Amino acid sequence: MTYHYRSSLLLWLLLPTWMFCQPDSLSMVRRMQWFKEAKLGIFIHWGIYAVKGIDESWSFYNEYLSHDDYLKQTEGFTASRYMPEEWARLIKSSGAKYTVITTRHHDGFSLWDTQGSELKAPNSAAKRDVLTPFVQAVRDQGIKLGLYYSLPDWSYVDYPNETRNSKRYEPGKEPPRWGHFLNYYQGQLDELQRAYHPDLWWFDGDWEFNADQWQAAKVRKHLLEENPDVIINSRLAGHGDYATPEQGLPVRKPEDPYWELCMTMNDSWGYQPNDTNYKSSRQVIQIFADVIGMGGNLLLDIGPKADGSIPAEQSRILLDLGRWTQKHQEAIYGTEAGLPPGYFNGPSTLSADRETLYLFLPYDPQGQIELRGVKNEINRIRIVGEGTKLDHQVLMKPYWSTHAGLIYIDVPEYVLDHDVTVIAVQLKGKLELE
Ligand code: GLC
Repeated sequence: MTYHYRSSLLLWLLLPTWMFCQPDSLSMVRRMQWFKEAKLGIFIHWGIYAVKGIDESWSFYNEYLSHDDYLKQTEGFTASRYMPEEWARLIKSSGAKYTVITTRHHDGFSLWDTQGSELKAPNSAAKRDVLTPFVQAVRDQGIKLGLYYSLPDWSYVDYPNETRNSKRYEPGKEPPRWGHFLNYYQGQLDELQRAYHPDLWWFDGDWEFNADQWQAAKVRKHLLEENPDVIINSRLAGHGDYATPEQGLPVRKPEDPYWELCMTMNDSWGYQPNDTNYKSSRQVIQIFADVIGMGGNLLLDIGPKADGSIPAEQSRILLDLGRWTQKHQEAIYGTEAGLPPGYFNGPSTLSADRETLYLFLPYDPQGQIELRGVKNEINRIRIVGEGTKLDHQVLMKPYWSTHAGLIYIDVPEYVLDHDVTVIAVQLKGKLELE
């Protein structure tokens, strides 16, 4: 008895501390709210690699060309047709609620006028800071700002790794030199924080060293002190807020309550004219539906050219996406993950009040679609963004049965969207599944 009493007292004393430490504590839920509702972000990989149209940073790291030849690209980074307001307008019109731009990739080339390094846009053919006007344009459009920042800087004299086969030193053997690098990178974060007040930090490259070596806990604490609302992606060596699967669409709903799939439109992050393996707008939209159906966000990448223009194929996809997200807003923003596998043959989302199911038709349906295991009675079924009321039939649900029955919905061809059709199933009450 005493023992039980004591242990439950201890539990009550410890509960607040425990709750505070949980990733899903109330403050976490509040902080992550806009991100959870946003669903779509646009990633921007812009840097000197766009000059030759080669792999960002990796091309010299993997020794496909020399570091010197790679850096010569600064002479071709003109930004002569760069219109940041156009970028921001295009991003907004795609339906994205946030954007993440590469302020500095692994090659160390900074888009802003950093005091930490000479390798920066003002010293390139552009002769100016190209980040500040973009941030301004993003703010003007009311979009949330994410800053991508690579922890590694393979060009920096005090960074251990130079290329795959060439190491400058080992951090453990030369702590002061490593300390010098830590000061440099943390100083750059301070510059970015003070100048741009990002809503989200998107770190990358943490795999090169461990959390202690990066001082990840300290960096996280510092960034949250600077801005208690800021969100940090997973790539700060285990000190982030959400998971970042890359390129591969998860097959099952990820366990992490917050996640974001980052994905290229073709196979490259930066501009590579020789890479024509573009996904169609429809494929991008289908993938987007799959992602939000599993409760995640899509961070879709564009790679502007060295002159600052956005390749036509990429702006086409953004505009097509914009038409579709505009038409289907209610099925996208602020929704939750939809039905688990087996209930419907395709992705679905659920309205925040849990009374409307949105079904994303994964193919051109041949007349009827089938929904299983939904116990609710149905108020109305309609085509999202179009209005047509659809007929349905409930089978295998005689009055004496407790089973949910099968719901068949007739979808006439003339209501189909040429990308992905969405059906709203308005339920009586909150969704109840068998
Ligand atoms: C990888 C690559 C990098 C790219 C990033 C985008 O970490 O190193 O080149 O920027 O993925 O998610």
